[in-house]
Amino acid sequence: MMTDAQATIDDMRARAETELGAAGTMDDLTAWERAYLGAQGEVTLFLRGLASLPANQRPIAGRGGNALKNELTAAWEARRVVLSAADLQQRLANDAVDVTLPGRQPILGASHPVSRMIDELSEIFALMGFQTVFGPEVETAHYNFDVLNIPKDHPARDVWDTFYVDLPGEIVLRTHTSPMQGRVMERQDPPVRVVVPGRVYRYEAQDASHEWMLHQLEGLAVDRNITLADLKGVLSEMARQLFGPDRRTRFRCDFFPFVEPGVDFAVDCAICGGAGCRVCKGTGWLEMGGAGMVHPNVLRNVGYDPDVYSGFAFGLGIERLIMMRSGVDDIRAFAANDLRFLRQFARAA
Ligand code: PHE
Repeated sequence: MMTDAQATIDDMRARAETELGAAGTMDDLTAWERAYLGAQGEVTLFLRGLASLPANQRPIAGRGGNALKNELTAAWEARRVVLSAADLQQRLANDAVDVTLPGRQPILGASHPVSRMIDELSEIFALMGFQTVFGPEVETAHYNFDVLNIPKDHPARDVWDTFYVDLPGEIVLRTHTSPMQGRVMERQDPPVRVVVPGRVYRYEAQDASHEWMLHQLEGLAVDRNITLADLKGVLSEMARQLFGPDRRTRFRCDFFPFVEPGVDFAVDCAICGGAGCRVCKGTGWLEMGGAGMVHPNVLRNVGYDPDVYSGFAFGLGIERLIMMRSGVDDIRAFAANDLRFLRQFARAA
């Protein structure tokens, strides 16, 4: 079949070299290697077929075939180095990351303005020795009313103000944070100094200053020789911390069954300096909540001797404090979940 081994070798070399030059990818190269040098490759089969050649052709074919195999192997190696470098470059280019691009801004949450005010108040009161404690929102009428000297026929107990829970016993959604007064005092002997932030519920028509759920912060201090002056000092200090050093405070008589005397507590409007504006509704004063000296009946109800101990209590509306400080004019904004409203507080952080 083969008459001129040299011609065959030359022909294989010519084709192999042309094809190798044309191989542009690592895949091309693999196919080329299989075609010429692999187990079934042309050159391999040629060398394997030496024995069947006429005797005079064998030396030429053997030497020439082996030389060709070595040549092509070396050329293949060289080509492989070039192509794999190109291949790597290509893959690097495809996978390139531009480290100079600006990063993507992660979406971070922020504390709700009510939570932030609670944190701020807890810190202010902590510096005056008050511990922050929490109580149940679903409460018994016993702690919400009875312990607090609120008699059975008091209008606050009316179903028109209070959410009653459909459970055996008199269970309510607490209408204020004051029920924690009784729970805390029953648990420990004086001295007591606690603040109690949390949600309270009132069955009221909603408008710009009334919500059926709002937040309060209760304060309670009981010890020997606590006086109204201590109450005024603590609340005035809180007002200065929240609204600035120049604020004046006002205490007027008010009535709550669980304090005697009772007061309402206001701070002069920081927005207008007391001259009268939209936020203080022209009065120059912002009402912050109720307060007073703990009623002797309440002390007796928890087993404290009112002849030995006295104390003060106060209740602040948290949303109200934020409304006064930031000039928010609708309490419903806090629970409406409008991010445009909430974000203004997050940025002021
Ligand atoms: N609990 C009262 C309210 O919700 C506020 C208050 C608390 C008044 C403590 C006096 C003392 O209106």
